[in-house]
Amino acid sequence: MVKTAVLVSGGGTNLQALIDANIFGELKNCELAAVISSNPDAYALTRAERAGIPSYVVDISIFPNRASFCDALLKKLQDLDIELVVLAGFLYVLTPAFVKEFPNRMINIHPALIPSFCGDGYYGIHVHEKALEYGVKISGATAHFVTTATDSGPIILQKAVEVEENDTPKTLQQRIMEKAEWIILPKAVSLFCEGRLEVNGRVVHIKEAENEN
Ligand code: GAR
Repeated sequence: MVKTAVLVSGGGTNLQALIDANIFGELKNCELAAVISSNPDAYALTRAERAGIPSYVVDISIFPNRASFCDALLKKLQDLDIELVVLAGFLYVLTPAFVKEFPNRMINIHPALIPSFCGDGYYGIHVHEKALEYGVKISGATAHFVTTATDSGPIILQKAVEVEENDTPKTLQQRIMEKAEWIILPKAVSLFCEGRLEVNGRVVHIKEAENEN
């Protein structure tokens, strides 16, 4: 089983998708070993508690800078012997020193079709505001490995979602979560834990599942 930590900052609906997939046996070879929140008031912590997953707070507001916050986060992950880190609605950019500790072992879910509407400043509802401002007719979500450049790592899975005529940032966000994020994030995590992802430069190849018979 791959010891997995989920990093969160807010509501935790993507964490819930992972918890639910695990209950239905869809997260193969994955142990949801810890939830770590950057925010002590995140509802994601309640979801972790209800699912019986040990949860921890590394409160970003008490650290003088991003480097010291990331150092504390890294120490926690190392103490727990975490092998895979999942950023599920984790809204802070991690330092290069942190990212380098998990080469192709950290997965992020981004609420747009990368390389559109991504990079610094594109997080949460802002992504959907920008997509609507631009007037795109299709958006979606991307599950990708994390590298030192924001939202630029090798893409594991993507799913497109249509923009509707009267969409607001909120309605678009909700549809993208339901129809894309909550589906591809658990799939990407399972593929990783099953050892089915092969990274070749920036291209991720998905290997066939081994015959279970
Ligand atoms: C999700 O839409 C996630 O894709 C996004 O924040 C939301 C958090 O929701 N993440 C980013 O924008 C990262 N760049 P959740 O807490 O309910 O999972």
